[in-house]
Amino acid sequence: MDLDVDFVRSQFPAFQSESLHGWSFFENAGGSYACSDTIDALTAYYTDTKLQPYASYPASRAAGEQMDRAHVRWAAALGVESDEVNFGPSTSANTYVLANAIGAMLQAGDEVVVTNQDHEANTGSIRRAAERQGATIQEWQIDPITGLLDIDQLASLLSTKTKIVTFPHCSNIIGQENDVARICDMVHQAGAWAIVDGVSFVPHTIPDVGALGADVYLFSLYKVYSVHQGLMILRRGLMDALPNQGHFFNDDAPWYRMTPAGPDHAQVAASSAVLDYIQRLDHHHGGSSETESGADLAAACRRVSTLWAEHEDRLLSPVLSYLDQHSGVRLLGPADLTSGHQGAHRCPTVAFDVANPAAVADALIERKIMTSAGDYYAVRVLEGLGIKPDPGVVRVSWVHYTSHADVEALLAGLVEVLPSS
Ligand SMILES: Cc1ncc(COP(=O)(O)O)c(C=O)c1O
Repeated sequence: MDLDVDFVRSQFPAFQSESLHGWSFFENAGGSYACSDTIDALTAYYTDTKLQPYASYPASRAAGEQMDRAHVRWAAALGVESDEVNFGPSTSANTYVLANAIGAMLQAGDEVVVTNQDHEANTGSIRRAAERQGATIQEWQIDPITGLLDIDQLASLLSTKTKIVTFPHCSNIIGQENDVARICDMVHQAGAWAIVDGVSFVPHTIPDVGALGADVYLFSLYKVYSVHQGLMILRRGLMDALPNQGHFFNDDAPWYRMTPAGPDHAQVAASSAVLDYIQRLDHHHGGSSETESGADLAAACRRVSTLWAEHEDRLLSPVLSYLDQHSGVRLLGPADLTSGHQGAHRCPTVAFDVANPAAVADALIERKIMTSAGDYYAVRVLEGLGIKPDPGVVRVSWVHYTSHADVEALLAGLVEVLPSS
């Protein structure tokens, strides 16, 4: 069964908004539209329970129960335990706090493996923490032509000195899924911990983080049709080894140890409303999951993710092939859906190098294509590809609510605005 895109779009108020009418949205890797469940949950929280949670009066109890439910629901969706789910202001804030904690574990002689395929959020603060401690940084580098990471090269960087390996599930420029399960396995065999940035991946597939084996898995809910929060899965093994970053008296409370900013109650409570949307979508496509059961929710996430990926792939092929064949642009990342490693998904985050990227983006915007140009905080990726971060590249990105008509509008716009040679 194909994804019912009309049904999907009926669940997103942005598609009914007058001010957005006629525009095609291709900046989803920067942040997605929110589904109505998210907006309704936030409104309900602000209306009925905008007070201090976890006291014994009814409104306060209800507030706390909604926050607890979010931890439980996300844990079930991602295949982890609810005390391993941490909410912070953003992924950048979560990696910053995490890196401070990890710094305390490192000492001179230790090694930390980072990549140049990451968004800066998943590499900058851990590099700084390693430098402060006198640990050595080993950079796992992308191929300068393809932008891909070669797993054999990682093998040559790992040793008994390696303590941490941090890498992306999928780069926000290259778009290709990395083999997280295999990499985590290699990292663990070397006796190190694996940190995975899932920000560019989760909008396309809700992953079974438990099965992937990452010790830390991060993503940004505001790109997953939800609230502006970062969600960090910190597995128990590493959590227990890290020093508390919160108030000293909260040392025994897992949710508080890595969130010194304190939780944004309303957003935490509303964060899992997107999972209600996913279950409704599953039901609409013949799935049987409508209950609160965690197993039902996890199964719905897997089924819906398959529907999303199949739809996104159908839209991806014509764009990749058009850009790949155009002599005036350099398409970044794989040009087809199968050139990565077997079974890996090429996400519809498509960046290309072109003369005067800002002018190309502006010309697309004149044609009601919402896009932009720049470095997307992936400065090291662009430098690794031999591209100047300023002016950077043009990026178009989409998700499951993007329609065939949107992609036709994009292709028509590209035909008009791209230089002919
Ligand atoms: C791949 C990737 N990682 C990390 C981040 C940082 O996320 P946040 O904006 O939540 O700090 C981004 C943001 O665009 C991203 O694309």
